[in-house]
Amino acid sequence: MSIKEIITVPDEILKKVSEPIEKVGINEKKLIIDLFETMYDSNGIGLAAVQVGILKRVLVIDVSNKDEEKSPIALINPVIRNFSNELSVYEEGCLSIPETFIEIERPKICEVEYVDEKGSKKNLKCDGLLSTCVQHEINHLDGKLIIDHLSKLKKDFIIKKISKNKKNPDRVVV
Ligand code: NI
Repeated sequence: MSIKEIITVPDEILKKVSEPIEKVGINEKKLIIDLFETMYDSNGIGLAAVQVGILKRVLVIDVSNKDEEKSPIALINPVIRNFSNELSVYEEGCLSIPETFIEIERPKICEVEYVDEKGSKKNLKCDGLLSTCVQHEINHLDGKLIIDHLSKLKKDFIIKKISKNKKNPDRVVV
């Protein structure tokens, strides 16, 4: 198992729609372990497979506090079945968009249907931070990022800033 490199904007893969998993096998189980390791290593509370370059509908979440016991949840083929009308707002960051935080309003409560790492169908009622996190991660599976909530101008500005800060390989003249 290993910690994977997290892909950041403006990589085009982040805009792609991930494919459903047909059967939970050894590769999917390995992928889930890698996603958890990568997410914990980066101090994230959620990570989708596309963020490590794998276009499969798999994501991992852990919204527990640092001083609490871990509560990892892996969701395969997640689908949101119900949304509340009531909204909540969080300042959201994303491991694929460094140093950027955007206030986003989303349904406060949602119900998500998914398959767990053992291949069983599950249902989870999510409230508050967990609800926001599940919706953020499912957006990743559909190629949607938090900057897509912004105007094109603001979005381009953020992407430009991030691209500029990215380390370029050493330039050599031969
Ligand atoms: Ni994200």
